[in-house]
Amino acid sequence: MGPGALRLSALPADRLQAALAQVGAFAAQRVKPGMRLGLGTGRTASAFLDALEPMVHAGLRVAAVCTSEATERRARAMGIEILRGTGSGLDLDVDGADEVAPGLDLIKGAGGAMVREKMVAERSRRFWVVADSSKLVGHLGERGDLPIEVLPFDWEATRRLIEGGAGAAAALRGGDQPFVSDNGNLVLDLDVSRSPWSPRELAGRLEGIPGVVGHGFFLGTATAALISDGAAITVLGDPDRERRSG
Ligand code: A5P
Repeated sequence: MGPGALRLSALPADRLQAALAQVGAFAAQRVKPGMRLGLGTGRTASAFLDALEPMVHAGLRVAAVCTSEATERRARAMGIEILRGTGSGLDLDVDGADEVAPGLDLIKGAGGAMVREKMVAERSRRFWVVADSSKLVGHLGERGDLPIEVLPFDWEATRRLIEGGAGAAAALRGGDQPFVSDNGNLVLDLDVSRSPWSPRELAGRLEGIPGVVGHGFFLGTATAALISDGAAITVLGDPDRERRSG
């Protein structure tokens, strides 16, 4: 089941395909033998795997932690070694985003994988966001809702606490046929477009609510963003920069 309403339009299909292929190839060309990778979820992360696949078949050996069951199935079929955890950290995580704001703050989770995605991103020395240019926004929440993963237990009361704390409405993803995450939880899509709180304030409020497992704000997590409009790539941040912890 899809995410909450999209408020801004996407790129035309042909330009979108070109953009995904371009950022996927740009990231894949920088993967080195022996790297321990984080593999994201969604179409753009998948474009990275499309570009990596012939390299793996040609003998490139890498190992990876996957952020969803779908990505793990794909990576395993490609012949990538699957790691059960991040251990002492990963070299590079490559993942998409739903919104990329100035300063590389993100909203993620349209695919419902944001909890594992955040764990992997924060445990990687570099986290590259790959996205088409329609994902660029002036402020988070402009383009769509903020996904929040909640425990199924007493989720309606958790939703009331979220709505009260955020001053905004939250919809159960999937409605009568709720979306269930890979972790067995529900996802609420919160309209933060008119929230009186900044993303950092709102993130703190959400994290204080029992029953909230995680949310799609990734604030200060990305080390670089690779953005394509289908013609040219723009690199934001420094792809060589490493996070201090990871
Ligand atoms: C998965 O839960 C998400 O965080 C995705 O990484 C994000 O929605 C971007 O997906 P697309 O690349 O499919 O737009």
